[in-house]
Amino acid sequence: LAITTYQAESATVSNGLVESNHAGYTGSGFVNYDNETGSHVEFSVTAAAAGPATLSFRYANGTTTNRPMTIAVNGTTATTNLAFPGTGAWSTWRTATTTVTLAAGTNRVRATATTSNGGPNVDKLDVDSGGATTGRPA
Ligand code: GCU
Repeated sequence: LAITTYQAESATVSNGLVESNHAGYTGSGFVNYDNETGSHVEFSVTAAAAGPATLSFRYANGTTTNRPMTIAVNGTTATTNLAFPGTGAWSTWRTATTTVTLAAGTNRVRATATTSNGGPNVDKLDVDSGGATTGRPA
């Protein structure tokens, strides 16, 4: 597996804030989406070759209400209303996963809140492009 990590606090944020007031995040913080439809985070994801990739968003949602987000790749919707259900606490982090198709080179992967609650708090995006592992010789 070839997994690359992209921290949300290093991505492009539209209508959200980078914060660090809830424990358990990786990197230097997380993005707190504004509580509104359309707030988004856009990651610049590099793929060595075109093809499928599994996106795992690490997030926290301290409410009991799902905060779905639509995932777009290079401006085209890939996954509509990916579920980000409650995690029990703002300091409890889980992953929401979807598979998309990436182009070779740089891809704009955008996660946009689709309800007025906004998105969850997003820590990072792990991208698994399924590349060959470098295994120990048999
Ligand atoms: C609380 C919490 C924030 C969260 C917000 C929300 O204010 O501290 O981290 O983003 O709720 O509902 O989105």
